[in-house]
Amino acid sequence: MTQAAFDSLKSQHPWPETDGLTAWDYTLGGGGRQLIDAIIRAQKPAFMLEIGCFLCSSTKRWLSLDSDIRVVGVDPWDDGLIEQCRRYVGRPALTRAYPDRAVQEQFAADIEAQGPFSTALANLHGFEDRFVPVRGLSPDALYVLKETGFEPDLIYIDANKQAIDLDVCIELWPDAQITGDDWHWGRTKGYPMRRVVEAVAHTHGFKIEADHATWVLHR
Ligand SMILES: C[S@@+](CC[C@H](N)C(=O)[O-])C[C@H]1O[C@@H](n2cnc3c(N)ncnc32)[C@H](O)[C@@H]1O
Repeated sequence: MTQAAFDSLKSQHPWPETDGLTAWDYTLGGGGRQLIDAIIRAQKPAFMLEIGCFLCSSTKRWLSLDSDIRVVGVDPWDDGLIEQCRRYVGRPALTRAYPDRAVQEQFAADIEAQGPFSTALANLHGFEDRFVPVRGLSPDALYVLKETGFEPDLIYIDANKQAIDLDVCIELWPDAQITGDDWHWGRTKGYPMRRVVEAVAHTHGFKIEADHATWVLHR
């Protein structure tokens, strides 16, 4: 059933042409993703849903860990990411990844010239059969996935830090393991994602495991 849904999604959401494009394997992740690696290695989820993919660096990590896992990624990949990447130039995170300022400028220029969507998919070269890029916004796009018959075993939420993303995932896929990023985000704002995850865990009786940015809900 889910393989049929995956195949159907694949034909509805084709990849852009990526030949000749420069891939930038740059992640916005904040650490602790070995918790997700461990789930993938131990439980071998057949289908994963990632909400918020950016340049698909995290997606590449999941796809590289298990040669059978198939991933559907939801992200608008809109042009707002161009300005966002431009703002990263000179900032600590991008400077850690690319210490040379000229490389940082090239990063921003490539995202602008190639577009965020094509640049993200260029980063997943070789994974064309196992990744479907769904351009859209959570939670609306999630209902469409469900209607198609897609049933993820594992969900990774790294989008806009909204409670509704978790609520809708639990409603649509009560058996999926739900995980995500941003546990450590926003110290001065009282860790908003942590509050969201804690509230959901309380309501549904989940236990939380967390490490740096990464959180995992256990039933
Ligand atoms: C922090 S980045 C994701 C980082 C990525 N997982 C990585 O490790 O590099 C957040 C992404 O969420 C996307 N996004 C924002 N709101 C969204 C929504 N409602 N649904 C899906 N994606 C969303 C943005 O376009 C952006 O690419």
